[in-house]
Amino acid sequence: MTAKILDGKALSRQLRAELAAQVAALRAGGIVPGLGVLLVGDNPASRAYVTAKEKACGELGMHSSEVRLPASASRGEILRVVSEFNRDPRVHGILVQLPLPDGSMEQEVLETVDPAKDVDGFHPVNVGRAVLGLPAFLPCTPHGILQMLRRAGIPVAGAHAVVIGRSHIVGRPLANLLSQKGEAGNATVTLCHTATRDLAQHTRHADIVIAAAGRPNTVRADMIREGAVVVDVGMNRVADSSAPRGYRLVGDVAFDEVREKASWITPVPGGVGPMTITMLLFNTVAAARGGPAGSL
Ligand code: GUN
Repeated sequence: MTAKILDGKALSRQLRAELAAQVAALRAGGIVPGLGVLLVGDNPASRAYVTAKEKACGELGMHSSEVRLPASASRGEILRVVSEFNRDPRVHGILVQLPLPDGSMEQEVLETVDPAKDVDGFHPVNVGRAVLGLPAFLPCTPHGILQMLRRAGIPVAGAHAVVIGRSHIVGRPLANLLSQKGEAGNATVTLCHTATRDLAQHTRHADIVIAAAGRPNTVRADMIREGAVVVDVGMNRVADSSAPRGYRLVGDVAFDEVREKASWITPVPGGVGPMTITMLLFNTVAAARGGPAGSL
């Protein structure tokens, strides 16, 4: 079997067209949805993500305000920017690009974001509400993955989903959402991580494998069963002197071999990545309209 491609780029284009119409309607009523972006330091991957997010805002007719601080910025300087975004009526959604150079500040910074502007869904109020199945801003990558599965007509209810990686940004919220009762969930979920003893033993029984480990070749063909759905969240930079930038992006899945066995697979790039940005726009438009949608 050769897998069909879960094309995040094409789906993003479609969703962004839908969002552009919503932005136009809001603008006609005098509201320009706005995103406040804070980037601390000069991590090249973070810079690239932030640029892509701002460009996407502009393409949809949204406003974005960016603040860049040096890696040496103090806790006070960072918290001040977040508080200014909290007060700024032009800013409906706030994005603090992670990781921060000083990881020990991260939780305090995320908790300073007004939960009503927390379009990343990282504030404990939104995390808690999402776990309870209440309306909340859902973290963008898990939300984007659920949208991709749903729009491709891939059944999640009753499926065995194996999630690899327990990060607060992807794996853990995804495992929560997939297991919830309701339209987008009802899966049986196994959450694997670095202390999992025999990863392949779990993935071989999965209908859906979602790799968010941050390590190339985490998922090989002999680890999945024929016809499985494979979603690759990895964005790993691998040195490549023949590539224009000196590196190329690879996922966590050995794409060429796994695609011969899976029924659906996401490419890297062009799979989950564009969807993450699209769901950030989705959440920001929702924030401008008054709050998160009631359900997925
Ligand atoms: N770093 C990696 N992924 C994300 C994300 O979804 N949001 C933010 N703010 N930072 C990230």
